[in-house]
Amino acid sequence: MDSKPTSPAGNTNESRDPARLRSHRWFGPDDLRSFGHRSRLKGAGFDDADFQGKPVIGILNTWSDLNTCHSHFPQRADEVRRGILQAGGFPVEVPVLSLGEMLMKPTTMLYRNLLAMEVEEVLRCHPIDAAVLMGGCDKTVPALLMGSISADIPSIFLPAGPMLKARWKDQTLGSGSDVWKYWDERLAGNLCDADWKGIENCIARSAGTCMTMGTASTMACITEAMGFSLSGAACTPSVLSQHSRLATQTGRRAVDMAWEDLRPSKFMTAGSIDNGVITSLSIGGSTNAIVHLIAIAGRLGIDLTMDRFDQLSDRTPVLGDIRPGGRYLMEDFYDAGGLPALLNRMTDLLDTDALTVSGVTLGQLISGAEVIDDEVIRPRDNPVSPVGGTCVLRGNLAPSGCVIKSIAADKRLLKHRGPALVFDNYPAMKAAINDPDLDVSADSVLILRNAGPLGAPGFPEWGMLPIPQKLLRQGVRDMVRISDARMSGTSYGTCVLHIAPESAASGPLALVQTGDMIAIDVEARTIHWEVDDDEAERRRSAWVAPDVTPPRGYGRLYAKHVTQADQGCDFDFLVGRSPDAEPSIH
Ligand code: FES
Repeated sequence: MDSKPTSPAGNTNESRDPARLRSHRWFGPDDLRSFGHRSRLKGAGFDDADFQGKPVIGILNTWSDLNTCHSHFPQRADEVRRGILQAGGFPVEVPVLSLGEMLMKPTTMLYRNLLAMEVEEVLRCHPIDAAVLMGGCDKTVPALLMGSISADIPSIFLPAGPMLKARWKDQTLGSGSDVWKYWDERLAGNLCDADWKGIENCIARSAGTCMTMGTASTMACITEAMGFSLSGAACTPSVLSQHSRLATQTGRRAVDMAWEDLRPSKFMTAGSIDNGVITSLSIGGSTNAIVHLIAIAGRLGIDLTMDRFDQLSDRTPVLGDIRPGGRYLMEDFYDAGGLPALLNRMTDLLDTDALTVSGVTLGQLISGAEVIDDEVIRPRDNPVSPVGGTCVLRGNLAPSGCVIKSIAADKRLLKHRGPALVFDNYPAMKAAINDPDLDVSADSVLILRNAGPLGAPGFPEWGMLPIPQKLLRQGVRDMVRISDARMSGTSYGTCVLHIAPESAASGPLALVQTGDMIAIDVEARTIHWEVDDDEAERRRSAWVAPDVTPPRGYGRLYAKHVTQADQGCDFDFLVGRSPDAEPSIH
């Protein structure tokens, strides 16, 4: 399946006056500063013919040897460059912070806003007329979008693409999801060393992002639905020849976007954001998308609330039967027609008039996109679920809300009442969870606190608390787990996440004690801590707030300015757009 680049709109010769380009302010004038700019480019080996009168296209590359999901980016950057040259642009590659999910500690989420800030400033301070944003691994996607929206410079996203499906013995494996599954089997004593090593050797089959509907693929699909990448981009596997062609097409399109001055403010609207939310729900997407979408909308000045997710969830069916909520993997989704085909089954729910980076509407892009396999992309009359796969709960334990990926939970547990087993922090949980004497049963509600944006810090993916080993050996594979943490998009289970306010910000989660009764009812959208008001007040008076502000550096900036989960965890001073297109030139 080839995605075809769409012809740009309104791209006439008259509109190609170099004086209209932003970079002209660096290279065009006959003055001392411009002389310096031109002469130094010549010192780097470029001639007038390379750059004069041409749009400068920044290739913002999140490549690093320590980001295994982006290991093919050096080749893709060359292919983007080829497209830019073909279309008459001047390509400049600019490395930006790489957020590789697997190797960064404590969590890449701590650094999402740092990358967003870097992208905004890199775009603002350089002679860049348009940008190709190369990302994929989870947090790189929202960070690149947040930064380019705030800078408001024409930008197009190129996703890394999902890995190929992994094969082990006669099993098809999905990264992340199957790691958790087989780790539980290993703890239960059902998997030998050789089999465990065999899985380690094959589960990451190629370059690219996790091949389940984890956060990376969820964000890539959302980005495409919001109009920020070429149609068909999100599902194209990382190592296919089509992915190379996609890179070149993206480069070509970036040049046209520069001439058209097609900025995020011109194509991103409240309708685009709703399209992103609906898409996330329809594919059974990652809970992390909620936090990222709120932050992205905030950069546009749009107040996206948790309630909006719930409203849209009520009317959005899950059509993508993709793990961890379903049966298939991203490669199957691509072969089944990919995101355009899925969206074409939901045109009545989408804002099809929303403009895209292709210069045409979303409706025009997906019109005619065909589903090849009804098992992977379900028909409307046979959905995976008639309503969205993620629900927002509220109650006295989460006054500002929390989320659960109901589609990836044990349906028996979606209404549950049980005694709390509280862990004060992650190390305490890790030390105790496999203790054979742990006082826990399958009905217990495992609670982890001090794991949120401030408390952890950084809002790590600790929310899929492990099932205690003694219960695994009894055959238990899911329990109700509650935390102020996130969980990986590849995770699953009855995990209530993003409790807001978090415990470190004096949320009620800080006051729960082991043995307190907790009730969740996903259908009723409630979470309730059974405690009388006097007792809660007594505990609050005795509670001492933890000191969560590091003494220096980025961590200190983060702790002073990060917002809570229901507000997107952006920095309070970064919400909205930059008032200036660029620093003044002297
Ligand atoms: Fe990079 Fe999953 S670890 S996308």
